[in-house]
Amino acid sequence: MAEVTIDSTLQEDRLFPPSTEFSQQAQIKSLTEYEQLYARAKADPQKFWAELAETELHWFQKWDTVLDWQPPFAQWFVNGKINIAHNCLDRHLTTWRRNKAALIWEGEPGDSRTFTYAQLHREVCQFANVLKQLGVQKGDVVGIYMPMIPEAAIAMLACARIGAPHTVVFGGFSAEALRDRLNDGKAKLVITADGGWRKDAIVPLKEQVDKALADAPTVKDVLVVQRTAQKIHMEAGRDHWWHDIRQGVSADCPAEPMDSEDMLFILYTSGSTGKPKGVVHTTAGYNLYSHVTTKWIFDLKDTDVYWCTADVGWITGHSYIVYGPLSNGATTLMYEGAPRSSNPGCFWDVIEKYGVNIFYTAPTAIRAFMRMGEHEPNARNLSSLRLLGTVGEPINPEAWMWYHRIIGGERCPIVDTWWQTETGGVMITPLPGAIATKPGSATLPFPGILAEVVDLEGNPVPENEGGYLAIKHPWPGMMRTVYGDPDRFRRTYWEHIPPHEGQFTYFAGDGARKDRDGYFWVMGRVDDVISVAGHRLGTMEIESALVSHPAVAEAAVVGKPDEIKGEEVVAFVTLDTSFSPSPELSAELKKHVVQEIGALARPGEIRFSEALPKTRSGKIMRRLLRSLAAGEEVTGDTSTLEDRSVLDKLREGA
Ligand code: PRX
Repeated sequence: MAEVTIDSTLQEDRLFPPSTEFSQQAQIKSLTEYEQLYARAKADPQKFWAELAETELHWFQKWDTVLDWQPPFAQWFVNGKINIAHNCLDRHLTTWRRNKAALIWEGEPGDSRTFTYAQLHREVCQFANVLKQLGVQKGDVVGIYMPMIPEAAIAMLACARIGAPHTVVFGGFSAEALRDRLNDGKAKLVITADGGWRKDAIVPLKEQVDKALADAPTVKDVLVVQRTAQKIHMEAGRDHWWHDIRQGVSADCPAEPMDSEDMLFILYTSGSTGKPKGVVHTTAGYNLYSHVTTKWIFDLKDTDVYWCTADVGWITGHSYIVYGPLSNGATTLMYEGAPRSSNPGCFWDVIEKYGVNIFYTAPTAIRAFMRMGEHEPNARNLSSLRLLGTVGEPINPEAWMWYHRIIGGERCPIVDTWWQTETGGVMITPLPGAIATKPGSATLPFPGILAEVVDLEGNPVPENEGGYLAIKHPWPGMMRTVYGDPDRFRRTYWEHIPPHEGQFTYFAGDGARKDRDGYFWVMGRVDDVISVAGHRLGTMEIESALVSHPAVAEAAVVGKPDEIKGEEVVAFVTLDTSFSPSPELSAELKKHVVQEIGALARPGEIRFSEALPKTRSGKIMRRLLRSLAAGEEVTGDTSTLEDRSVLDKLREGA
């Protein structure tokens, strides 16, 4: 990796403190309280986490060492015995929460189901016994390839209950992607459904499983949940309907006491190069970190209905639909559907129907809603909302303000949460009752997280200068290794920045700056940084400038090789429906970027496009845009692309 300086150009001075009413009722009530917590955690991280582990979780047996740190390999709560499914379910059954709604589910066609803690526990235990009956043992890897139905969460918890690490593969992935992940994890069994509903159509999940299994020899059995009831192939001896096999199976299944460091799950994430990495998370540290972050960041109250719109196939679904909320005894809402032309306002319907109080979604969704206009949310009663969150990418101030005004009614704090599959839980975020927000900033590190912006020697860079986002001390939720490839773990995350003052440094792969208040501004992946005339520009900042123009709905900016300047900025732009492409508009947008950022960032080219190539999780695939901008063939893996026709249209338009 070459040494870079990253020029940061985004200027955003608006400050939104939480209201007194919000702060007074919050888990963490003031900046002073946050600062005290942060200082205490920094002074003695092990003591800080051990105290929380003691008060927040149930243990079958206490640990004897809080942290064993053999850089870059950490073990937390060594020799402790614990079970995350027990913490998510059983321990609530002896309290008044026994009959509280644990999981509220809304299907895309409008069907719905609610499980109390007692009911969810029963389902999970029975599911776990079926897995055992099929020969799944502690340590066996189980693949989960499911739509967003309750059984997805039930399957995860059932695996955790018997100590079988799960590897959830997002239902939008292709058969090839599924096959590779099952083979890498040597999965013994796959849990799937006949299909799932997405945008008024059936996703043929079982068909994909059948294709994948043609070349996945370790998988011996497939458990199939009936969701859509369309006709599917059932392979005799291998495939079992969940509703048949569960008949007469006991719902008594004690949770297996797991070692703190036993593997809880593998979740694959793509790097900029090479095959996907199997990110390994273990039991106790992940349980603690997802639990505490959920509690403080979402300011959970027992009366809240909490909704995270992510898919369980991503880390956000793992930590903030399933494990974090349930460990806290919360009511977590799960929605199968996605905004679609037959019902663009479906999210707002769900909020109104269930009186959702906390809503956590992605910037890409917010920008899509902005594009559709205010009338959809305005036509619903969203007054139950008290807290909003975002995750997954930097949010441009324009979208932040829209979210604040139109969805939050100017009364809800917004937690812009920075984290990664690798970190297990949120790392940089406002604590909503304590930290005033600035649109576009993830604000301050969570207590116990020693985040810094550094150069390639590991030295902190001066205020407002761009650098690399790095973490200086291990934390309980950190990934433990890349499955089957500890060397890759070391190389990818721990060798870019050398140990500094004796401390090993985790390199997150993101560029960031810190402002004079110590707020972090994440500028995106460093491999998304564009170098123009020796200056490095964060793509997000140019995109943000473009989106601040009334004609622009969404923008993605990439660098194109340029003989003189190193790279030239090429902007792919989706217009608001009331505007159409023209050379005049192109010139105006270029001028607008110059006005907002400076001549340096002036796009050499603007390409209008009806849509941008995105992954199913909504991340713009800049790698593809880079190839298009450079006039090269698009090569490499495109299996994660949501809509392949977007690429063809972009090519034709070139
Ligand atoms: O670049 C950062 C961006 O998403 C990356 C992590 O992606 P993934 O592992 O798929 O996890 C997504 C859900 C946690 C980060 O390296 N990212 C995530 N959240 C933010 C963000 N960038 C800026 N602001 C955020 N709030």
